[in-house]
Amino acid sequence: MKLTYYGHSTFLIHTGGKSLVFDPFISPNPLAAAYKINDIKADYILLSHGHGDHVADAESIAKDNDATIVSNYEIVSWYESKGIKGHPMNHGGKWKFDFGTVKYVNAVHSSVLPDGTYGGNPGGFVVWNEEKCFYFAGDSALTWDMKLIPMICPQLDFAILPIGDNFTMGFADAVHAAQFIQCDKIIACHFDTFGYIKTDHQAAIDEFRNAGKELILLQPGQTIEL
Ligand code: NI
Ligand code: MN
Repeated sequence: MKLTYYGHSTFLIHTGGKSLVFDPFISPNPLAAAYKINDIKADYILLSHGHGDHVADAESIAKDNDATIVSNYEIVSWYESKGIKGHPMNHGGKWKFDFGTVKYVNAVHSSVLPDGTYGGNPGGFVVWNEEKCFYFAGDSALTWDMKLIPMICPQLDFAILPIGDNFTMGFADAVHAAQFIQCDKIIACHFDTFGYIKTDHQAAIDEFRNAGKELILLQPGQTIEL
């Protein structure tokens, strides 16, 4: 499974023979200025919630690639009204796609679309197939609900958690989240993009190491094999 980070909470993950883009926010992000959204090939775009720093490039990428948006019912309906195809989900539900199974799980945050349309409740995704199982938390506080994930999903191979604090959990809470979800390999997101979420990388890595866990902070544009 190949994973590329495009800054903030944007990831391109190749799995099950398909390309999945998570929360595309590239063109407005100065830290991702080297990347052109027309270079991104996507079959599916998974959106955790409606905030601009998670959906900014979803419409362009979807239209360029004839990609399917996977999100909550409200967000998918908004994109469908723009002529983009989608697969609506809601919390606690799962669906078997051609690349694997996706379960839409709780997040504690807020959600509104860029034009003020109600964005439903925010969520995260657990994705699994024969290759791997991973969790993309989206924007969330640390929440007790994360303890449900190991009870109802396969063992996680890795998880993508926000660590930037202020708008989401910070790295100290993210260590507890990693314990709740019983996962030792965490990839960080939602840090450094804005002043409010500037993060001390070494302090974050040390906090995880002290708990016996690995925190990976990728550079925008970096690709890793998992
Ligand atoms: Ni948000
Ligand atoms: Mn955000």
